[in-house]
Amino acid sequence: AKTVTRNDDGVATVGGIEVTRLAEEFGTPAYFLDEADFRARCRAWADAFGKDADVFYAGKAFLSRAVVKWLHEEGLNLDVCSGGELTTALDAGMPADRIAFHGNNKSPEEIERAVRVGVGRIVLDSFQEIVRVAHVAQSLGKRQRVQIRVTVGVEAHTHEFIATAHEDQKFGIPLAGGQAAEAVRRALQLDGLEVIGIHSHIGSQIFDTSGFEVAAHRVVGLLKQIRDEHGVELPEIDLGGGLGIAYTPDDDPREPHDIAKALNEIVTRECEAARLRTPRISVEPGRAIVGPTAFTLYEVGTIKPLEGLRTYVSVDGGMSDNIRTALYDAEYSVALVSRRSDAEPMLSRVVGKHCESGDIVVKDAFLPADLAPGDLIAVPATGAYCRSMASNYNHALRPPVVAVADGGARVIVRRETEEDLLRLDVG
Ligand code: LLP
Repeated sequence: AKTVTRNDDGVATVGGIEVTRLAEEFGTPAYFLDEADFRARCRAWADAFGKDADVFYAGKAFLSRAVVKWLHEEGLNLDVCSGGELTTALDAGMPADRIAFHGNNKSPEEIERAVRVGVGRIVLDSFQEIVRVAHVAQSLGKRQRVQIRVTVGVEAHTHEFIATAHEDQKFGIPLAGGQAAEAVRRALQLDGLEVIGIHSHIGSQIFDTSGFEVAAHRVVGLLKQIRDEHGVELPEIDLGGGLGIAYTPDDDPREPHDIAKALNEIVTRECEAARLRTPRISVEPGRAIVGPTAFTLYEVGTIKPLEGLRTYVSVDGGMSDNIRTALYDAEYSVALVSRRSDAEPMLSRVVGKHCESGDIVVKDAFLPADLAPGDLIAVPATGAYCRSMASNYNHALRPPVVAVADGGARVIVRRETEEDLLRLDVG
């Protein structure tokens, strides 16, 4: 988070509160989220795109009722991809017309509920879904606003599991072979649907804007084809999320302003050339808003030096609160935050307490050689896809999320308890 500094004793403080105090009050492991930073990032996105565009925060990165309220207050919209996320959004007061509903296999119940409550758009991901949503809308006497998600065939330079616009993966309808154009043609014929635009999401943790530019270019090409063939000018395009953040000092991410500028320029230029009305643009950043706003605080438990290799530092959490290192080979950094140390750096690997050797939080890190059990260490940039992908592996209790703001801290998602675990176990 932006506001982490050190006091005279070398203790890190966030929002003016020492991490040692946070650990005492809230326990470890725990995620601490800087509310002011979250809100500032929302505003940065809204300002970068301006009033002729819409920013939808991608709830999958991290969603809670407090987050929904902040988004609402900052004027952002929300992208949800499950009934559970929809429930959280509505419960916390997000107006339905500011919600986009996603997913490649929405259940009949999810579709019906989304249409019934009147979500602002459903993003259709397959030919079956075009028919299903049209049918539900019609039977409810409604016309549902929809976008058609297409795959533009861009190779985003990111981990294979989080890239989504190349051909051989499950999302969207390929532009290739005229499939996407055919999907739009079918959707336009159905009374239950109001086709408002085309959606493209090329992947996640992307540093290079060129992939977005190619996607925008191809989406505009499809708009032109639709206009030429059906005489319809679709009014909106959504270019998804995916902007990368800095996990380590080596990462050099783009700013919302960079991507807004690149996208606006290319869309405006190409629409003018094709004599198309410039569509309203929307984007769906998740990681770039919430990722940098939080860190995970752990307590060091055991320390095991392996001669000639490295020192294994075990913390009180692990792959159950951050699966990203194991799943994507993700890089993180780590720092001793409960005191100052001038000891020599020691090559370390921060590992969790789970029963497998892949339970790694930070693969390679330098921690001071005088590190001791009881020290607190912090892993920054864990706001996105850590709590939201947390698990109960080994019956771990998922950590709380604590929002820190203006010298105060409050729990927004509480720590799980053993009673929570037992409550689900009804055998
Ligand atoms: N829109 C759509 C349709 C998406 O599928 C996603 C992410 C986003 C927006 C937001 O992307 P972001 O701005 O956060 O990159 N669990 C992985 C990331 C999966 C991303 C899934 N979709 C990770 O931890 O890296």
